[in-house]
Amino acid sequence: MQEDRDVTKDQALEANIYVHSFLANAGEYNKSPHFRPENQQKVRGILERILEMAPEQQNARLVDFGCGTGFIIHLVADLVAEVHGVDITADMMKQVDLSSGTVQLHESTAENTPFEDESFDVATSYSFMDHLFDYRDFLKEAHRVLKQGGVFYSDLNPNRDFLDAIVAADRLQGGPLPLSPFVTREIQGALHNGQLYEEQYGLDSEKLEMAEPGKSIAQGFDASEVLAAARDTGFSKCRVEFEWFLGQAKVMHEQSLEDAATIEAYLNEMLPASSHLFKYLRFIFVK
Ligand SMILES: C[S@@+](CC[C@H](N)C(=O)[O-])C[C@H]1O[C@@H](n2cnc3c(N)ncnc32)[C@H](O)[C@@H]1O
Repeated sequence: MQEDRDVTKDQALEANIYVHSFLANAGEYNKSPHFRPENQQKVRGILERILEMAPEQQNARLVDFGCGTGFIIHLVADLVAEVHGVDITADMMKQVDLSSGTVQLHESTAENTPFEDESFDVATSYSFMDHLFDYRDFLKEAHRVLKQGGVFYSDLNPNRDFLDAIVAADRLQGGPLPLSPFVTREIQGALHNGQLYEEQYGLDSEKLEMAEPGKSIAQGFDASEVLAAARDTGFSKCRVEFEWFLGQAKVMHEQSLEDAATIEAYLNEMLPASSHLFKYLRFIFVK
């Protein structure tokens, strides 16, 4: 399955540690768009919904894979009994707030953790699966450590249909069909981010690509393929949700939250025909 890859698993791990140590130490990581208040509010709501589905709700044990600087940990710490963060980049984890006394950190790969079988009610991963050499190995580990009935939640996974549409738009640049400045910006953000980081901060763009094999090599996630992989792993109820349509932030900021919600609901009704307009996939599986 992975033979044609031009990055090895060890290279992906090493590149992840390089990129994330760099961003954490430069004070840049927490400026990522998903830290904006409107997204934090949205993810907090999703976490509440996930916890309602979990075997244990008041005393839940949650593990966050690829926890980084604690985006999920900080949103969920007051809702659960214990949160365990797993990450390979110590410099990212140094920024996790441990003051609640309920958070424990583990410097470990997500594919091979020190936890006992069936120890968690909820397993989460945010902006993470595209950093893995093979997300299937990670799904197996998440399944192993979840209790029966435990819930897996993974978010901000790049949608292959969207990336395909952006690659097609990139090919039209300079042609007879004019591209709006807005789409041009999206092309830059989705396909040429490495260049920007290299110019602005001196980050090695090749390393950035190697740190995101699920984006740079696999070109994002195919929703049906991930659902099939989850079922093969042993998860029973598997669903995908599509999120952040192209231009959603613009509508939210320049029009209103209500307008954005109306468009989102419409595009959801039009799935799968509208799939290429959504940037990310959210997965929710039950063991
Ligand atoms: C884009 S960051 C996401 C951090 C955090 N979840 C967030 O949403 O802000 C990806 C994180 O995954 C970690 N990572 C990459 N590959 C990993 C692996 N195989 N096992 C554990 N952590 C990994 C990186 O060190 C980095 O902190």
